[in-house]
Amino acid sequence: MAGYDVVIIGGGPGGYNAAIRAGQLGLKAACVEKRGTLGGTCLNVGCMPSKALLHASELFAAAGTEFKTLGIEVQPKLNLPQMMKQKDESVAALTKGIEFLFKKNKVDWIRGAGRIAGQGKVEVTGDDGQVTTLEAANIVIATGSEPTPLPGVTIDQKRIVDSTGALALPEVPKRLLVIGAGIIGLELGSVWRRLGSEVTVVEFLDRITPGMDGETGKAFQRALTKQGMTFKLSSKVTGAKVGKAGVAVTVEPVAGGEAETIEADYVLVAIGRRPYTEGLGLESVGVSPDARGFIETDHFRTSAQGIWAIGDVIHGPMLAHKAEEDAVACIETIAGKVGHVDYNLVPSVVYTAPEVAWVGQTEEQLKAAGRAYKAGKFPFTANSRAKINHETEGFAKVLADAATDEILGVHIIGPQAAEMIGEYCVAMAFRAASEDIARTCHPHPTRSEAGRQAAMGVEGWTMQA
Ligand code: FAD
Ligand code: NAI
Repeated sequence: MAGYDVVIIGGGPGGYNAAIRAGQLGLKAACVEKRGTLGGTCLNVGCMPSKALLHASELFAAAGTEFKTLGIEVQPKLNLPQMMKQKDESVAALTKGIEFLFKKNKVDWIRGAGRIAGQGKVEVTGDDGQVTTLEAANIVIATGSEPTPLPGVTIDQKRIVDSTGALALPEVPKRLLVIGAGIIGLELGSVWRRLGSEVTVVEFLDRITPGMDGETGKAFQRALTKQGMTFKLSSKVTGAKVGKAGVAVTVEPVAGGEAETIEADYVLVAIGRRPYTEGLGLESVGVSPDARGFIETDHFRTSAQGIWAIGDVIHGPMLAHKAEEDAVACIETIAGKVGHVDYNLVPSVVYTAPEVAWVGQTEEQLKAAGRAYKAGKFPFTANSRAKINHETEGFAKVLADAATDEILGVHIIGPQAAEMIGEYCVAMAFRAASEDIARTCHPHPTRSEAGRQAAMGVEGWTMQA
């Protein structure tokens, strides 16, 4: 039996960052993880493998189309096993990297399923069934999330898959039906579309990617439609039957009306994720999740003394970098320092082509809040780097307070939007005015100049459009 300052249950971006920070601060820390590798959803079956396939499939598609414009004539040939292998190898290297960081920071990885067994106690059941009890002054729950199931559509990970299955399909589906036009559906739908699938996306709402700025979302849908994705909005899937020829999916208009059957070779269910607390023993410390399964916290403290929670299992965006922020703030609080996360400044990115990245408020949110704002928008068609690279799709948009000029939201659609958004996260953390960006020299020729021009647009003096 070992006495720890902190035992963390779950080894994803929340858990491993918490463990490493605890080690750095000199706390005696252990991380309990039941998967055979560290890194959680993100490294094993989420962010990293999806980005590996997005990168490879984007180059594959470009080799067949855009390369020609640049004077490079090749006939790309898909080697799907190799594409999957390089993804798996990168994932393995990343998860091993976390093991190395644990050793470096003197964090114990306790392999097995953790269960809280009353205040200050975590029981760990190893693969061999052996139970070890850990004693801890603080327990941090970082057990993450899992795909939300859809009644009537049973995931078999063969023909009807969730994101984990869609990251490892054995062949390119001729017809892929995606349920849910959220981030997973569009990222993984894009992967298979680029590799040759006909992709149909069924979405319950009348728009794709709810939460994204409306104007940006419309431009995004146009771009994906141009790439050959088909959208069936305001529609719901009521059943899916696996047969010899594939899957027969029943789709109905949300508003009522006739159902239709769509035949597909594979179906990806991506209608959201829900917090994961199965077998965690929350009842032993009197913590009950809310109606949607989230653990309620106040600055990461649960209702039970010495029990904390971070990442996907608590409220807020289900994103790896948010889990990481939670982790550092939670551990610093445990260590007697001041931990803080500004949830308004957690950026979002969809890693499709074009990429979409944003931080802060959307126009719809500002209107709903009755906040007077000014908008500046700059198209990449007028950006020299985009033009020279033949990558002119999209725009950058800056929203700023009408009176103070403080930047309230930034929305970028186009290649490398993800890399561009960081500048605005920093600017907004310093409560910059749009004029601060507008008057800051940016390197030429870069796509970042489009962001600056959008900020100049807020000031009313865009130079190039
Ligand atoms: P998780 O990463 O889910 O980790 C929880 C860990 O706890 C798991 O390893 C689990 O095995 C373990 N666990 C659970 N219960 C127990 C127990 N009782 N005992 C021991 N171990 C336990 N986010 C981004 O920011 N960018 C992206 O590009 C991105 N892409 C994604 C792509 C996909 C396909 C998916 C599914 C998700 C993606 N996400 C992305 C979301 C991101 O993966 C999550 O927000 C992030 O992993 C949450 O971190 P976490 O530590 O809270 O939980
Ligand atoms: P999501 O919440 O992004 O999107 C789900 C979509 O499904 C929504 O548009 C919703 O309206 C729709 N939907 C819900 N029920 C439906 C139904 N019955 N029929 C049809 N449509 C329905 O969830 P998603 O895509 O599953 O991703 C889960 C989370 O994982 C994301 O919210 C995000 O936090 C994280 N993620 C982040 C990534 C990134 O940062 N690039 C990449 C992938 C996942």
